[in-house]
Amino acid sequence: MEKNYKRHLVTAALPYANGAVHIGHLAGVYIPADIYVRYLRMRGQDVKFICGSDEHGVPITIKAKQQGLTPQEVVDKYHMIIKDSFERLGISFDIYSRTSSKIHHKTASEFFRKLYLDGKFIEKESEQYYDEEAKQFLADRYIVGTCPKCGAENAYGDQCEKCGSTLSPTELINPRSALSGNTPIMKKTSHWYLPLDQYEEWLREWILEGHKEWKSNVYGQCKSWLDGGLQPRAVSRDLDWGVPVPIEGAEGKVLYVWFDAPIGYISNTIELLPNDWEKWWKSDDTKMVHFIGKDNIVFHCIVFPAMLKAYGDGYILPENVPANEFLNLEGNKISTSRNWAVWLHEYLEEFPGQEDVLRYVLCANAPETKDNDFTWKDFQTRNNSELVAIFGNFVNRAVVLTHKYFAGEVPADIKSEPIDREVLDQIPVIKAAIEESLETFRFREALKEAMNLARLGNKYLTETEPWKIAKTDMERVASIMNVSLQICANLAIAFEPFLPHTTHKLAYMLNMKNRNWEDFGCDIILQPGHIINEARLLFDKIEDSAVEAQVAKLEATRSQNETALAPASEIEATDSQPSIVPQKDECTYDEFMKMDIRTATVLEAERVPKTDKLLKLTIDTGIDIRTIVSGIAEYYSPEVMVGKKICILANLAPRKIKGIESKGMILMAKEESGNMRIVTPGESIANGATIS
Ligand code: MF3
Ligand code: ZN
Repeated sequence: MEKNYKRHLVTAALPYANGAVHIGHLAGVYIPADIYVRYLRMRGQDVKFICGSDEHGVPITIKAKQQGLTPQEVVDKYHMIIKDSFERLGISFDIYSRTSSKIHHKTASEFFRKLYLDGKFIEKESEQYYDEEAKQFLADRYIVGTCPKCGAENAYGDQCEKCGSTLSPTELINPRSALSGNTPIMKKTSHWYLPLDQYEEWLREWILEGHKEWKSNVYGQCKSWLDGGLQPRAVSRDLDWGVPVPIEGAEGKVLYVWFDAPIGYISNTIELLPNDWEKWWKSDDTKMVHFIGKDNIVFHCIVFPAMLKAYGDGYILPENVPANEFLNLEGNKISTSRNWAVWLHEYLEEFPGQEDVLRYVLCANAPETKDNDFTWKDFQTRNNSELVAIFGNFVNRAVVLTHKYFAGEVPADIKSEPIDREVLDQIPVIKAAIEESLETFRFREALKEAMNLARLGNKYLTETEPWKIAKTDMERVASIMNVSLQICANLAIAFEPFLPHTTHKLAYMLNMKNRNWEDFGCDIILQPGHIINEARLLFDKIEDSAVEAQVAKLEATRSQNETALAPASEIEATDSQPSIVPQKDECTYDEFMKMDIRTATVLEAERVPKTDKLLKLTIDTGIDIRTIVSGIAEYYSPEVMVGKKICILANLAPRKIKGIESKGMILMAKEESGNMRIVTPGESIANGATIS
């Protein structure tokens, strides 16, 4: 690996908690970041992967108004959805926290205060629109009026959605307040500005001279900002949601969301490593990398670095900012407001057990150098003709044949032929190509190389045809199976960064206890005599009906958007409702009260060996610590379960399941489709609280 970095601090853009995460976010930011981090961990590097929800800003206050909720309720809701869905996809953050946390408020306030006291800001007065009835200054989004460019009537103060022009509120014709509908007045207000112009020379030097290796889209955007000349940027807003400006006389003002959010990377590191965080942020042997989408480039390459530079005190700057372009969906721009998206939490419900398919497709088709398109057809093809037909098929043949001919024991390589050597010699070459690509943020290329390893195996088996040779020469078959199994073991290592759920299954199948990157490319990973487990399919075919259903769902969205004025009831009627199981027979109050249902917390979780569905959970019931075996492994991985608050039936008669005594049952919500989720007590409540 390049240079002598002692540790890697990897951040992924903090998603706004005003909506769920969709495939565009995943392909652009979270999947590449996770692949990178998993790779570094495999190589034994000291890594921290930092993320969390971005919970401030005007869009959240607007969402709250629309939904009749408080901003806090909005962010609570989406924070949970986002956090949970990331976990289930296997995005392996070391911390996923949030900017409404106490520690973030404290960190961001202190950051601002120091810059303020050090005289790093300038204070300026300006006139802004003010709603006299609502007694509020109006954020750009809160002002609507006629677009000066195209004449559309409901343009926003910052943008016209009809013609796409960027606007400033004073350009709008007949401006109105979105809060009261009244015409706003101009009123004086004062704000703090970071004088970016003072950092221009330094930034030119640092980026344009020092980081020519950055991706061309990133470098190019920075260059055009710098060439255009930087202006002072306001770092405060008149708003009642956010981190209050920590200065006397600044009532009613908060930090601008793009000032506080990147500080969230610091706060979340502090939360993760309260005693140790400084060495991650303030020593030159930390390599910091920010994964972001292209709309975040200026903030991560110009504004945040200028903030860190202004702060001084040893803060390091990012070594790279590998931003991606955008992913489209079926030919159209992904849009949250028009619901033109594939939402991660919905995908996870609709394709249980197929997390890695999404990871695969979004990486294979990531918008690394240009915008790209996601289609369901491509999703299906990549699964069926790549994952199933190449990777899955090869592994399955290797494992099944080993059981058939050698009772599941890795045979010794006793009769090798030149083709074996040729094949084995290609593995280190593939390994080097994967490393080179990952270290330069070319994830599509890296994945392609990893797939070449599966292709190699598949081709090897097809060419050597052990099922034919078995009739005459078992010694030769031994060698073929040995080589095939070594390739399988290499796959279990090579794919760990990309498809962690799959490699976990594969490692189990191969009975591999340890997977080390150093072993990747060695001739022998599985020793002769090593016993492997039964074959299990790594990937399932995706049927036409499954993708047709997804396309139909998008079609429904499209026609809903077109008939946006149709009565709500009609729209709902076209929404496919899940079918519901009918009510069960009546029971008495006493019968119900016999059941001892309580809250509990999962302390430990592990798979029950040789089963697909069972997890063995150690739980704290408030009364005792006990074991429950639960059939939820298809829906939750052990790592995800640890720390979860759950509800249990505590007095269910104990039963032995796979030889393990299970005391009680975990309450699950189950849809008729079979999809299941654990029932959790919504708010924090002590273990052992009784439920009735
Ligand atoms: N919430 C922003 C977005 O989704 C990203 C914030 S990144 C951070 O575009 F650096 F500010 F945290
Ligand atoms: Zn317009």
